Amino acid sequence: MSLESDLREALGTAHVITDPELTASYGTDWTGRWSAPARVVARPADTAGVVAVVRAARTHGVPVVTQGGNTGLVGGSVPRLGQDAVVLSTTRLDTVGDVDRRSGQLTAGAGATLASVQQRARRAGRTYGVDLAARDSATIGGTVATNAGGVRVCRYGDTRHQVVGVEAVLADGSVVSRLGGPAKDSTGYDLSGLLVGSEGTLGVVTAVRLRTHPATTQGTVTLIGCRDVDEALAHLGANPNPWAAEVMLAEGLDLVRRVTGLPAPLTRNWPILLLLETADLPSLPDDADAAVDPRIWEYRERHTEAMATLVTELGVPHKMDVALPPDRLGVFLAELPATTRPHPTYVWGHLAEGNLHVNVLAATPDDPVDEAVLRLAASYGGSIAAEHGVGIAKAHLLHLTRSEAEIAAMRAVKRALDPDGLLNPGVLLPREPDRGGSGVDRARRGTLPPWTRDPRAPG
Ligand code: FAD
Ligand code: MLT
Ligand code: ZN
Repeated sequence: MSLESDLREALGTAHVITDPELTASYGTDWTGRWSAPARVVARPADTAGVVAVVRAARTHGVPVVTQGGNTGLVGGSVPRLGQDAVVLSTTRLDTVGDVDRRSGQLTAGAGATLASVQQRARRAGRTYGVDLAARDSATIGGTVATNAGGVRVCRYGDTRHQVVGVEAVLADGSVVSRLGGPAKDSTGYDLSGLLVGSEGTLGVVTAVRLRTHPATTQGTVTLIGCRDVDEALAHLGANPNPWAAEVMLAEGLDLVRRVTGLPAPLTRNWPILLLLETADLPSLPDDADAAVDPRIWEYRERHTEAMATLVTELGVPHKMDVALPPDRLGVFLAELPATTRPHPTYVWGHLAEGNLHVNVLAATPDDPVDEAVLRLAASYGGSIAAEHGVGIAKAHLLHLTRSEAEIAAMRAVKRALDPDGLLNPGVLLPREPDRGGSGVDRARRGTLPPWTRDPRAPG
């Protein structure tokens, strides 16, 4: 039997898509930078269905690319060229349980949208601690797999801090499940923690136990014009424990205004704008140019969308997601224009974590500008993958901020859990020249690892 027949038998014909017109959208990422056809798209509705997909793919030696909302920005959610992969879409695993009154926890299916989890928490008088502009499409499984950050990290921490336990299907089809949610549990290795940020390379997350926080009323949202990033940091220093602290640059604000028609938010044009959300009115100098209005969030949240809307005019952005120690933000921003010249460059981000999204335009697919920007961040002790993950965009540059020993340990974990490189090969870890790439690559060259033979075949 073919992979497709096995999948149809397990999931039903309606949930196995092979028509290229229908699989096309599953093969292209949100930015349009990465695109390759999926051999087949499988849409299981429960954990047993995910097990069946993983087992069938393993039997036929076909890689599995797990996809949630496909809003990821580093190319990890779509197949690589020539991979002939099965895309395992989780969007039907979309149940969201009630908030447990005693623990404040809830369990969500991996395919539930972030917005649906936020809504369920709200209905119980609680708050889910992660928020980002792609909330209506991004899934809980995707946010766990990328350890997504967003605009509330300074208040609640990133996704890792919200996860109590994970259920996942491993590459051999076994299920590990930690959804019980005891308040304390130090029993051995933290497998759930290992799966957070694993970008579909160690297992397919099927459900997650999440903590929620007591709901609070709306904070005060203030936009403040700044001469430079150090002035923005000074405002942040005067307002410790903000609910959000986001940064925009004049060029990005102009893009957003062009696309949305929003009016100028302040009386003057400023090179840097700080969006501060605080419990009460913020502490600011008397001469600060500032505006208070909850709608100010639109100027910040619509940056990614504005760039995508203008894609035919601007071209596909290369999205770099770096974080710098606060005292290095100024020098990084000062050196960035010379690093990215002649490419138009737009920057915005999450100031509280020193996280800047550097969007470089008019770059060729393998342009050295990506590495130059990431090297600059690394040279100042920063991160090259602050919240979007590594994906395929940065796998080859892991060595910029991870030692040989760390990369070797990551490889050992990958080999232990997915010895044949079935799950998302090419993502997160650079290919291994000594081992000839993933098991799937080797199978294609004729040196078949055992699992690529159909166990039901005679002999
Ligand atoms: P996908 O894009 O489908 O997948 C992302 C990665 O996770 C892939 O490697 C995929 O294989 C893996 N994966 C997905 N589901 C599973 C699963 N169930 N099990 C195992 N692996 C899985 N990110 C931030 O961190 N902060 C932001 O502020 C932010 N803002 C954004 C705003 C916009 C407008 C957009 C388009 C994106 C933004 N992102 C942001 C990026 C993106 O939304 C996040 O990375 C999100 O976590 C991806 O979720 P997803 O369901 O779309 O995952
Ligand atoms: C953001 O904070 O706006 C997101 O991470 C998305 C992006 O970088 O485009
Ligand atoms: Zn971000």
